[in-house]
Amino acid sequence: MPESHPNFEVPSQLEAEIDEVITHYPEKRSASLMVLHALQDHFGFLSKEAIEWAAQKLELQPINLYELVTFYPMFHEEPVGTYILKICRTLSCAVNGAHRLHHHVCERLGLDPNSHASQTTPDGRITVEYAECLASCGTAPVMMCNAAFYENVSNEKADDVIEECGNNGDTETENKEDV
Ligand code: FES
Repeated sequence: MPESHPNFEVPSQLEAEIDEVITHYPEKRSASLMVLHALQDHFGFLSKEAIEWAAQKLELQPINLYELVTFYPMFHEEPVGTYILKICRTLSCAVNGAHRLHHHVCERLGLDPNSHASQTTPDGRITVEYAECLASCGTAPVMMCNAAFYENVSNEKADDVIEECGNNGDTETENKEDV
């Protein structure tokens, strides 16, 4: 179940933006993913209250949106870090060191290296989680930091990515062969 968000309130400007997005679709429900993304971008995660608010806005039942939130890994039902490190653990990455990489990253950040669950550093800065195939099996192991994509990730390259998370306020969407 999603985490609760006491005093949840959608700012009027965000609601206006969401109303505008909905007009782009022939049926309100077709805007579901866009509305969920807008809420997550603003609040950082999708709380029970956010999902119920979106359902009312889209004239759906909350279960219709829970189905999306639990299916798509880009949605988070609890607060996550400013930076989300996703380490692929599907076959090619698994045989090329994904678990070694996950272990290293978790140890470096003081997280449990044996946990397969999503974990966030106590300062709320970095979340580490496993992901399924990120569609770059030929350059395994791969990882993402928010929208930035990293291939052939060694422990040293992962250290550089973590360093960037500490020093850099932003991430980019382009592929990053070298950090
Ligand atoms: S198995 Fe990791 S990108 Fe496909």
